[in-house]
Amino acid sequence: MILPITQYGNPVLRVKCAPVEQVDDTLKELAANMLETMYEANGIGLAAPQIGQNIQLVVIDIPKDEEEEDAEPETATVNGVVKPIQDLMPLVFINPTLEPYGKQYLFTEGCLSVHNIRANVARPEFVKATLPQLDGSVLEIDCGGLLARCLQHECDHLNGFLFVDRVSSAAKLTLSKKLKRLAQGY
Ligand code: NI
Repeated sequence: MILPITQYGNPVLRVKCAPVEQVDDTLKELAANMLETMYEANGIGLAAPQIGQNIQLVVIDIPKDEEEEDAEPETATVNGVVKPIQDLMPLVFINPTLEPYGKQYLFTEGCLSVHNIRANVARPEFVKATLPQLDGSVLEIDCGGLLARCLQHECDHLNGFLFVDRVSSAAKLTLSKKLKRLAQGY
């Protein structure tokens, strides 16, 4: 089922999300619906507040064609084993713990909840993440690249942050009119 995606200005995007206490059929169905909603919107990640639920649930699917053609396939260390990130997709997790590290770099981000705005955001290059799965297993991931970027963006959502909060103050000035308009029309 395709769910409506909450838009900038909606207070549900600004709440710190509660941990998921119990994985039941309702939660599994919600995760499946979030994936469907994300694919339909051509997104690569979606966090529960974006469909109006303030719980720590995230779905990510980084498609192969997002990678640069001549580049090596992106890899991550997953529970001690190096593998292509494609093997992880779609990635669904609850109650994540993230430890970003490394040098900050700028990368252009967008968000399904912030229409028609893309902006450069500085974030650390790498992430160590503990990602509990719906089946009770836990993925320990160490990664860089688009997956590290995406994990930081999505986990920000769980704390009520949006990428536009993290742009430079000059960029904030440039964006402020557009954001005001979005907030009025949500
Ligand atoms: Ni987003």
